[in-house]
Amino acid sequence: MYSFRNDYSEGAHPQILRALIETNLEQTVGYGEDRFCQEAAELIKRKISRGDVDVHLIPGGTQTNLIAISAFLRPHEAVIAPLTGHIEVHETGAIEATGHKIISMSGREGKLYPSDVRQAVEAHTDEHMVKPRLVYISNATEVGSIYTKDELKALSETCRALGLLLFMDGARLGSALTSDKNDLTLGDIASLVDAFYIGGTKNGALIGEALVICTESLKADFRFHIKQKGALLAKGRLLGIQFTELFRGNLFFELARHANAMATKIQGALIALGCPLLLHSPSNQIFPILPNQVIAELVAKEYSFEVQKRMDDDHTMIRLVTSWATREDAVDEFIADLKKLL
Ligand SMILES: Cc1ncc(COP(=O)(O)O)c(C=O)c1O
Repeated sequence: MYSFRNDYSEGAHPQILRALIETNLEQTVGYGEDRFCQEAAELIKRKISRGDVDVHLIPGGTQTNLIAISAFLRPHEAVIAPLTGHIEVHETGAIEATGHKIISMSGREGKLYPSDVRQAVEAHTDEHMVKPRLVYISNATEVGSIYTKDELKALSETCRALGLLLFMDGARLGSALTSDKNDLTLGDIASLVDAFYIGGTKNGALIGEALVICTESLKADFRFHIKQKGALLAKGRLLGIQFTELFRGNLFFELARHANAMATKIQGALIALGCPLLLHSPSNQIFPILPNQVIAELVAKEYSFEVQKRMDDDHTMIRLVTSWATREDAVDEFIADLKKLL
């Protein structure tokens, strides 16, 4: 019995909880202007090696996406996103509700490529259509893949040549950056995109995402946008304390590395058992295609996971997600059960 359903099933890392308790009786100013939020922003800037970015702490991922994207766009402008993108599939039309169309492109393995972006731009010719202005990508993607430096560079160059903004959803950035297959640094990302965020919710924090705005023209009045969308927490310290702990040392990266290691272990076992996968995932989400009977037996053993897609009459794709808190003994037991069933 164990849950591989998602990476936000857990509470917070003990070091973060401890910091919340230890600072509990300290009185601070509100709305993100306290010393913890300032320290968190400084620590993040140092990790990026850039003093000229703005950092805003926002409670959740959907909020960050909709506040940033709607702030960056003029009323007639649209966002290009992969078909599997979180804003396209899982945000209840939050972007559209701000008045901006999502132009979804098929991409490959959850990623957008320059050809997708060019195709979207070429299909929008005049003022009778929306105007593509921003490209949304996520890293890691919703199917577990990650961007290489060359891929992100190519996308960035294409966006700059076409006058488009590039925005990276980093709800799982920790997993992407600590993947064995990763060759990007936080500094590379800051130089290649206009804005991105660093996800805390799925990587050790109780809640919280750190939005980093890199392009000067996008920075003005951003706190007004956060407040107008209801996301400027009076108790902003809650976010500041958590991100200070994540970035004071290397906790953020250590936690993500553990999540990846657990996923790699499960994926390796599945491959050895001959199980097909949606793709060889380099991150903490894996998508095996299993016989329905095996899925039923795993459910009977009270394993919990998302059932994603029926592949044929006898096979279904599931999603397994590991986290900073996934226990290795639970992974070993799961693998032992898989060996018995497959
Ligand atoms: C890639 C990605 N972006 C954004 C979100 C949204 O985060 P939240 O549920 O905090 O709104 C998620 C959540 O699953 C996600 O996977």
